[in-house]
Amino acid sequence: MLMSVFWFENSIEYNKESDAYFDIGSSKMVRGKRVGIVGAGNVGSTIAYSLAMLGACHEIILRDNKIEIAKGKALDMSQAAAAIRSHTVVSVAEKMSDLTDCDIVVITAGSPRLPGMSRDDLLMINANITREVIEGIAKYSPNAIVIMVSNPLDVMTYVALKESGFDRSRVMGMAGILDSSRMAAFIQEKLGYGGGQIRASVMGGHGDDMVPLSRYSTVAGVPLSDLLSAEEIEEILRRTRGGGAEIVALLQTGSAYYAPAKATVIMIDAILKDTKQIHPCAVYLEGEYGYTDVVSGVPVMLGANGVEKIIEMNLNDDEKAMFAKSCASVRSMIDVLNVNKFFQGV
Ligand code: LAC
Repeated sequence: MLMSVFWFENSIEYNKESDAYFDIGSSKMVRGKRVGIVGAGNVGSTIAYSLAMLGACHEIILRDNKIEIAKGKALDMSQAAAAIRSHTVVSVAEKMSDLTDCDIVVITAGSPRLPGMSRDDLLMINANITREVIEGIAKYSPNAIVIMVSNPLDVMTYVALKESGFDRSRVMGMAGILDSSRMAAFIQEKLGYGGGQIRASVMGGHGDDMVPLSRYSTVAGVPLSDLLSAEEIEEILRRTRGGGAEIVALLQTGSAYYAPAKATVIMIDAILKDTKQIHPCAVYLEGEYGYTDVVSGVPVMLGANGVEKIIEMNLNDDEKAMFAKSCASVRSMIDVLNVNKFFQGV
């Protein structure tokens, strides 16, 4: 049932049932942007908070099985948004069927590795969680762009893509921005200067075999190799590869969340603002870099349609070998899913 309201100089109508405004002229929905976040643990809630403080979207909807905790966090964040006079509202979806019509959905849900659980056990558990979540997203937010954050990141992105049936431009994984930021922070720490001027580049999967590209890393345009010795650079690369584990060892009870959340918010912001800027993200490869049917981190152009372009860099032989190793380790995890007949619905 349409009900006319005045809305600036345009003729826009308010649709009570879908709680949205329609432009009569174009029949196009003109509501604010809505971002869903599945999993309101440390990473999910820090994404929500960071996004709310940015004011990049109108609504943030948290979805978590621990509904009361999610509601408490949503209230707290809405009040923080009010404090900065932001228009963003944070709410909770009690069921997946309440996570409707999102423009972007971020998936952070997954099980941590518990005592006695093998890596393969964890892989199967998280793949099943991802399948359940993505089925809900495909049903209730069928036009959403999906950003995967759960680990193992590249494989979960692969599962989300296969199980959603979405175009690969709409399913991507966070991690390249995180890993590049870690490398930048380690470069700054080593140099003692250059903060804010460092461009670090990391490709490949989000694992021990990630591919930090020192050749493409600079400080205010100055190549890293002009500023640091080969040994110092090697130490930075080693620390970057172990960046997540270093934080886990210090925290003892969990893993990093500030930088993973900020990296995710950078992707969300780029999509919502249609920036068309290049960021390293995990995407499904269809021949790029010579790989097919695998997900890996590569530079992509992000815009309103998600991954709008995959950029192919010219890698040297060493870099190609590192990228091959990284793709092989993601491939071996996909093979575990295949051996367990995951994609046959078992
Ligand atoms: C990290 C884990 C959470 O890199 O993937 O911090």
